[in-house]
Amino acid sequence: MSRSAGAGSGVGGVGRARARRRGLAAGAGALAVVAVAIQFVPVDRSGPPARHEVDAPPEVVRVLRAACYDCHSAATRWPWYARIAPVSWLIADHVRKGRRELDFSDWPVIDFTAQDELLREVAREVEKGSMPPSSYRLAHPQARLDGARRDLILDWAGGDIPAQP
Ligand code: HEC
Repeated sequence: MSRSAGAGSGVGGVGRARARRRGLAAGAGALAVVAVAIQFVPVDRSGPPARHEVDAPPEVVRVLRAACYDCHSAATRWPWYARIAPVSWLIADHVRKGRRELDFSDWPVIDFTAQDELLREVAREVEKGSMPPSSYRLAHPQARLDGARRDLILDWAGGDIPAQP
């Protein structure tokens, strides 16, 4: 009696473990299906044609190209992982929002007052160290603004603006 009860609970334990494994397998399967399915959600990686170039000395343009253009110009270089959802959504969102705030490809056609305002913002962001964003700096070491390149951008943008207005 007690033996069969023990055996019974043993079988129940095995059954539960099996059910759990089946559950896990089903979960993993569902995840895999979702991971594949989301690849078909269209992501807008298009860019308008690069219309203009920012109006700055060539050494400044070089730094802006390396550190900012991927999100703040029409000349985005999309990395391979920008093709893989959900990372692709995040990247496309960064680029869309970045271009909306500041598009260096439009620079010469932005009026001077707006340019001044943007330059102040560039100085503020670079001084705070919040641009380029830290996630981007991780993946793009060449985009980090070290002392000299940071100073160059701050000089160009009128870097005597205090970090916290
Ligand atoms: C990975 C994309 C990315 C890169 C690279 C990047 N930015 Fe941005 N930037 C953004 C996004 C997104 C915004 C919109 C504001 C936000 O959501 O934080 C933004 C906003 C800004 C703004 C407006 C800030 C405001 O509060 O209105 C300035 C100025 C700016 N960036 C300057 C720069 C400069 C200068 C560089 C290069 C040194 C740079 N960014 C590099 C993504 C980027």
